[in-house]
Amino acid sequence: MFDFTSDQFGQLNAEDYDIQFDPGNANQIVEFVKSYGHQGRILEFAIGTGRVAIPLVEAGFELVGIEGSAEMVDKMRAKPGGDVPSHIGDFAYTEVGGEFDMVLLVYNTLFNLTSQRHQVDCFKNAAKHLKSGGRFILETFVPDLSGYKDHQRVSTQRVGEDHAWLESALHDPLAQKFHFQRIRITNEGIKLVPLPMRYAYPPEMDLMAQLAGLQCEHRFADWQRNPFTANSKSHISVYKKA
Ligand SMILES: C[S@@+](CC[C@H](N)C(=O)[O-])C[C@H]1O[C@@H](n2cnc3c(N)ncnc32)[C@H](O)[C@@H]1O
Repeated sequence: MFDFTSDQFGQLNAEDYDIQFDPGNANQIVEFVKSYGHQGRILEFAIGTGRVAIPLVEAGFELVGIEGSAEMVDKMRAKPGGDVPSHIGDFAYTEVGGEFDMVLLVYNTLFNLTSQRHQVDCFKNAAKHLKSGGRFILETFVPDLSGYKDHQRVSTQRVGEDHAWLESALHDPLAQKFHFQRIRITNEGIKLVPLPMRYAYPPEMDLMAQLAGLQCEHRFADWQRNPFTANSKSHISVYKKA
């Protein structure tokens, strides 16, 4: 089993992040953010390659990012509009000057923090940066253990004439952790792309939010505000500072 420092995801994924990972929902996120007001200061935790930040700045928001990986930020800087002010550091602990109307943490990235302590500290850091009435907006998947047997599973992600991409995973129910190994097999060889994640269900996140002085205001199943139900695969939770 393994853990990551805050720069390791980027070292492994920055090169092809935009090709392999983009879920194509940045415009939906911009519309969602706008529904809370068309102006304001946003702090994005884990700004990455600017997938969401650049469209938000183009929509008129003032945005500052925190990111663990200089490689990811370099990719953002190479894009048109990618000159978004960003601080390199762990988003659970890095402090940025001033107060914000909104803190954003999207695309399951809370789970990149692989202990409960680290996740609680992330909520506290979000709350610290918010002005009174400000919102912490969080997107994660809802953990689904149904594919695991004996705490492990292997699935096929892609198959082509010259490649097969597999995902091998171990589940640690005591630590609420998944240890993923993405195995990319081609004629040139095998590339391993590991990823540890510590999952939490929404009620645990609500408790973390309370510890940080935040209350859950809304929870949706997706960025189009569809209702969150027992069958939802992911959630957008909106936490408000009193
Ligand atoms: C799944 S990507 C999401 C990037 C971007 N928010 C997006 O939606 O495209 C996860 C990002 O979190 C960053 N990251 C992971 N752990 C971090 C930490 N502890 N502190 C700061 N950044 C971290 C990675 O470098 C990567 O850019």
